[in-house]
Amino acid sequence: MALVLISPPADSGWAGQRLDGVLSRALAGRQVRRVRTAAELSGLQNQRILLALPLGDTGVNLEYMRMLARLRKEPGLLAGCTGGLIVDGAGELYTKSAAAEAALALNWAGCALVGRPLVEGTGSLVNFTVQAQNLGSGLLETYRHAAAELAGQVEEFVFPKREKPEILVLHASSHHTSNTMDLWARVRERLEGRCSIREIGLRNGTLSDCSGCPYTMCLHFGEQGGCFYGGVMQDEVYPAVRAADALVLLCPNYNDALSANLTAFINRLTALFRQTRFYDKAVFAVVVSGYSGGDMVARQAVAAMNMNKSFYLPPNFALIETANTPGQALALPGIDERLEGFARNILDTLCL
Ligand SMILES: Cc1cc2nc3c(=O)[nH]c(=O)nc-3n(C[C@H](O)[C@H](O)[C@H](O)COP(=O)(O)O)c2cc1C
Repeated sequence: MALVLISPPADSGWAGQRLDGVLSRALAGRQVRRVRTAAELSGLQNQRILLALPLGDTGVNLEYMRMLARLRKEPGLLAGCTGGLIVDGAGELYTKSAAAEAALALNWAGCALVGRPLVEGTGSLVNFTVQAQNLGSGLLETYRHAAAELAGQVEEFVFPKREKPEILVLHASSHHTSNTMDLWARVRERLEGRCSIREIGLRNGTLSDCSGCPYTMCLHFGEQGGCFYGGVMQDEVYPAVRAADALVLLCPNYNDALSANLTAFINRLTALFRQTRFYDKAVFAVVVSGYSGGDMVARQAVAAMNMNKSFYLPPNFALIETANTPGQALALPGIDERLEGFARNILDTLCL
């Protein structure tokens, strides 16, 4: 299958040179169609897409900004696509935040992302240190290798559908008053019968945050199927994640971020991640903010679960709503249609 390379030119010529070199080596021998401007983003449905973003030292790329505007304004612009990203900077900052923003925008426009969809080149390439040691090669060589590997994954990956997929739902809310739980209850009704669904509550006190054990210690506990702290995470949550085909994270906006309990869950997933990858498991989210900031919470979920922890990001992975007082979410204009669309998307993604 051919790749579509979306590669807005850098604002200053020098800022794109390293990325151009990496791409020409990584994509050699592949059939590639190049898209350089926002105007050319039309007609790309059902393609395999690599966004290559040169950011220079400012974290800004003006043609990409025009692309971002189209991705946010035109739902379905990339319907049926599967993608990944290569983000290159001249300094140590902005590559990751720009990548997370781009990942959410691509997904909003209908593009699925493979697990671990980002190859990031910071100015010094120091972020490749461990991979370079493992490969026994230099930093630039490792960058090229990672880009080539991602291109192959984007071209070939197909998410496996199942007869009766298992969905694990993680929340940390009060059932009686939570808008997030209200929305999930209405999604759940629409999935019953087609999926088997398990809900686990990560309420205060049930979960300690990651203690940041040394790498080898984390690996050791991970290999035994556990983690230094043990507890509900080891006994209940790790086995449930292993068994699940998809996770649904219920995410009330707490200070423009995921709640502490959900963040602790993601941090503690590290021990499991040390011994297994989650490419064949999907992640969905229901995000509710009282006032604003749903995109920040969704972006955090993308960065942590898809970019970092390797879960597959299905197109339009999140239902993002704004509601504050109890009951308000279910009274939002057009909410039934959005709930129906979100539930249908889960079924279309997971079920044969
Ligand atoms: C600790 C805490 C922090 C919150 N921070 C924010 C915030 O930063 N922005 C916002 O829009 N709403 C914020 N909210 C409001 C919730 O997002 C809101 O109540 C929403 O309905 C989702 O929560 P629920 O599922 O418990 O109803 C906060 C609520 C709590 C309890």
